[in-house]
Amino acid sequence: MSDGLEHVVAAETVLSEVDGQRGVLIVRGRSLDELAGRARFEDVAALLFEGFFEDLPRDLGSALGAARAEVFAEVPGLDTGLLDRTPLEAMRALTARLGDGEDLPTALRLVAAPAVFTAAVLRSQAGEAPIAPDPRLGHAADILRMTRGRPAGAEEARALDAYLTTVADHGLNASTFAARVIASTRAGLTSAVLGGIGALKGPLHGGAPGPVIEMLDAIGEPANAQAWIENALARGERLMGFGHRIYRVRDPRADALKAAVRRLAESSDALPGRLAFAEAVEAAALAILKAHKPDRPLDTNVEFYTALLLEALAFPPSAFTCVFAMGRVAGWIAHAREQVLGGRLIRPQSRYVGPMPLAAA
Ligand code: ACO
Repeated sequence: MSDGLEHVVAAETVLSEVDGQRGVLIVRGRSLDELAGRARFEDVAALLFEGFFEDLPRDLGSALGAARAEVFAEVPGLDTGLLDRTPLEAMRALTARLGDGEDLPTALRLVAAPAVFTAAVLRSQAGEAPIAPDPRLGHAADILRMTRGRPAGAEEARALDAYLTTVADHGLNASTFAARVIASTRAGLTSAVLGGIGALKGPLHGGAPGPVIEMLDAIGEPANAQAWIENALARGERLMGFGHRIYRVRDPRADALKAAVRRLAESSDALPGRLAFAEAVEAAALAILKAHKPDRPLDTNVEFYTALLLEALAFPPSAFTCVFAMGRVAGWIAHAREQVLGGRLIRPQSRYVGPMPLAAA
């Protein structure tokens, strides 16, 4: 038996390929380098959905804009009890109000949901009124506008598009597998997406970038990095933003996001200093991890530069995983449709290692 199923192939997919030895990510025949920083998120969602919905429009942007406006009608369901929860728990609860289905309108509402609900939750928690979507805007620009209450600059929208595009799909990661298992029972896309959100929440998957900011803030300045990291490892802790189940070299998504942060830094006063500090911490961490685990290549993963990018776009760390869900939801839906159209019920075996009943006297 393979603990963590790491050598088990559990699905065939046309959606994405993660080559961990070479550090390459392919999304429907395109390399991540071709997409990140160049494509809009809605175009990557359309690429993932191609062949899985009969009535897919040529331009998904306006249909997605209309879906954002449609799901905003659920925002009054955000009661005060939910406002005490984390942004992800509140966003998950609002998403659960959407009906199940397998068609394109259901899929588009689900793509819109993490974006619209997270923005509404963050504003409500800050005591401000939620802002209705503007269906004419691109998805990334509208997310920033709904969250921050002011129009996004072109470079900011481009940076968020680079992020959403980079994380839209990534093979059979834990949340996508969870979504496929649920889809295989024919439960419907909303149920599959809710399963994906639940799996993404954990710090070993999508919950790491918030702790990356906590780590950077605790280190404070480059001179403290080595001692802080060595102490953390001596306590048996893991460094958030490093290591990956599949990549044995650098995670290509870390490079795509670092490039996006660098572009954003050109139009920012504070970001270049923060970036230089993060690079110093990254260099110290990589050197120490190499000495700490000589047999296990541990390199920077997607979450490290996610933290810097989302911080620069003024998302609070408590909402970083919600923003991850805004991108990955496209992959969950495409995988769920692929599973329904071509797969069987997923039902593996377990090996019983518990006590046996006593033989009848
Ligand atoms: N810091 C310190 N040690 C580490 C780290 C880390 N970031 N990652 C792995 N290790 C060590 C483990 O302690 C383990 O040591 P051991 O054999 O002495 O127990 C060894 O390396 C192998 O680790 P596994 O947990 O078997 O590796 P796995 O493939 O299951 O884990 C994971 C991958 C969960 C990402 C891990 O590297 C980790 O915990 N990283 C920190 C959290 C993080 O950044 N998560 C985001 C991942 S990216 C994503 O999902 C979008």
